[in-house]
Amino acid sequence: MGFRIMINEYIDQIIQGDCLEVMQNIPGNSVDITFADPPFNLNKKYNGYEDNKEFNIYLEWCKQWIYEMVRITKPTGSIFVHNIPKWLTYYASFLNETAYFKHWIAWDAPTAPMGKSLQPSLYGILYYVKDLRKSKFYEIRYPHKRCRKCGYLLKDYGGKKASLHPFGPLVSDVWTDIHRIKHNKYRDEHPCQLPVHLLERVILMSTDENDIVLDPFVGTGTTVIAAKRLSRRFVGIDIDEKYVNITKNKVSRESSISKVADVWISFYLNEILTIRDKDWMKLAPYFLISENIKNIDFEKIKFDRQSRLIENEEYKVLPTYRKKATNSK
Ligand SMILES: C[S@@+](CC[C@H](N)C(=O)[O-])C[C@H]1O[C@@H](n2cnc3c(N)ncnc32)[C@H](O)[C@@H]1O
Repeated sequence: MGFRIMINEYIDQIIQGDCLEVMQNIPGNSVDITFADPPFNLNKKYNGYEDNKEFNIYLEWCKQWIYEMVRITKPTGSIFVHNIPKWLTYYASFLNETAYFKHWIAWDAPTAPMGKSLQPSLYGILYYVKDLRKSKFYEIRYPHKRCRKCGYLLKDYGGKKASLHPFGPLVSDVWTDIHRIKHNKYRDEHPCQLPVHLLERVILMSTDENDIVLDPFVGTGTTVIAAKRLSRRFVGIDIDEKYVNITKNKVSRESSISKVADVWISFYLNEILTIRDKDWMKLAPYFLISENIKNIDFEKIKFDRQSRLIENEEYKVLPTYRKKATNSK
């Protein structure tokens, strides 16, 4: 193999090319996380790519780019691969040879019924690390699930309500709160675009500000947009010129603004969807939280970017949280 390009030359770039060739030019241990959402070999109608490789050829190809992903990821880094369970069973065996299993994240994202099968709803994100002791990981939280009409908690926490986290539970390895992009007005001309807040969750969980995120199948840019919003550096690769141009255009219009105070968070439709557990004390002053914890049953805490520690008759920041939040300033 010829000489390798220093990763700095690729930073914050969207590269048009075959991801295998591009990754083979990148030195080992040089990016913080790699995330791949490859074609699923389901005969999807991409702009140029033919999504119908022969079974073994598809798998052999996948093995090659998976090995490249692991090679270029730093020892502190993580490798994520999104696909349907059928292919992930093979991917796991490839990854087990060169990296360490951390999670198989189940993403509940129902699609249209296909007939003569169960309706596909389970998508997976394999989460592997290069070194189990060195890898970065941050616990993350999402808002309590509530009835849309009455606002009540959907889960019955019984007598444990007083110890509930005001924001919401820790995220498990089953993600049911992130929906596919349904409306065409939010989609680009691409058959399989992922939602940005899915990638924001992955990035918040596994990286720090300025870390490098590489996506070898960037499509119309979901991963790099999430990275830029969260002030991470990025490298996006796609074989299709049209998708590369759409991504470049979109990324140039983005800025690193997904933040409250000095804390990076993920928003969806003006609501906070994912936070890091360790950041809660800094975020708490930006929420109006019912003084009576029992009200958590039916009162959602209210995010108000402007309202730091404003108290009125109805809402107060819970005393314990307020105290710690103020002290941590
Ligand atoms: C499932 S899509 C990725 C969608 C992306 N996650 C998004 O949210 O927009 C797979 C992408 O892989 C690209 N692709 C196919 N073969 C490739 C290759 N050898 N190298 C780089 N990209 C490739 C396709 O053009 C397509 O955009």
